[in-house]
Amino acid sequence: MSLQYRGRHFLNSLDFAPAELRTLVEVALRMKRGAERGHLPGRILALLFFNASVRTRVSCETAMARLGGNAIALTPGRDTWNFEDQDGVVMDQNAQEHVRELSPVVTSMVDAVGIRKCDLITVGDAKTSVTDSYAELKKDSFIHAFARFSKKPVLNLESNAAHPLQHLADMATLVEKLGEPRGKKYVLSWAWHPKSLPVATPHSQMLAAADLGMDVTILHPPGYDLDADYVGAATQRARQLGGNVTVTHDVEAAYKDAKAVCVKSWGSLQYYGRFDEEVAAKKALRSTWICDESKMARTADGIFMHCLPARRNVVVTDGVLDSKRSVVVDQAENRLWTVMALLKELIGG
Ligand code: CP
Repeated sequence: MSLQYRGRHFLNSLDFAPAELRTLVEVALRMKRGAERGHLPGRILALLFFNASVRTRVSCETAMARLGGNAIALTPGRDTWNFEDQDGVVMDQNAQEHVRELSPVVTSMVDAVGIRKCDLITVGDAKTSVTDSYAELKKDSFIHAFARFSKKPVLNLESNAAHPLQHLADMATLVEKLGEPRGKKYVLSWAWHPKSLPVATPHSQMLAAADLGMDVTILHPPGYDLDADYVGAATQRARQLGGNVTVTHDVEAAYKDAKAVCVKSWGSLQYYGRFDEEVAAKKALRSTWICDESKMARTADGIFMHCLPARRNVVVTDGVLDSKRSVVVDQAENRLWTVMALLKELIGG
């Protein structure tokens, strides 16, 4: 166990150097092969899930069980109080407890806390966001306030801006499937989806490939640019490792010769908070922006990646998802090994 990770928060992978993340991935892949073990007997991880999850919750809970520890999962507002993170607020509305008490209390009893709090930008469902400003939401105020008052490491399980656990799992998958990914072509493609989904996951998927020095192509229709701060950071990190990041709207050129295609839908930052307008504007994109067999045929026998859950025959066809090129189940399993490696390094010893 290296002291370089112990006690640190894992709020955003940009807080870690690419080499540090690669080291965690190598630990995870050794654990997966049975060549390295971890032990966290008696350690406890608390999990606050403001949003739904399958992979993140199962991987975090089973990681702690496999390491000999325990996890406690809570759904804020359902089996806890409602929480406030802003300072100076008169708490006469829905929130009963401030993060200034919540965080030190919980972290006086556990060894680490994982938080999923993504204020979903969506349509059709009730909005969970208190603001329609992406610039405001990307500050991820709750998780940062919690970390500020925490006595123990805090892990981001997906926020408005980033999903760093997906970053680790995708890095591990690319190394596992491609050998050394450096210099190889990776495409992150937007897909049509009936809802407006957060940009956190595509940010982290882009960074995963950039942090391996890959030749990263971001493919999306006009108006679907990712956060320029994240694209800029990914470009800088990729270049340091001999890779690059380019953005294109050209579907055919993007898929050509790709070694890995990662498909994801995300909402337009241009229409943030104006979902009805976005639905109308993207109607014409549905038939073009699905990953199908003809697009995958343009790749260099590339693998197909998706963070899951994936809407079949909306985001990706059955033919692609059920093909040998699809690595989505291994990618999801790698959530387990990478979170085990992370927990071992942050709270082990
Ligand atoms: N990819 C991912 O984070 O899956 P869940 O939302 O099911 O946790």
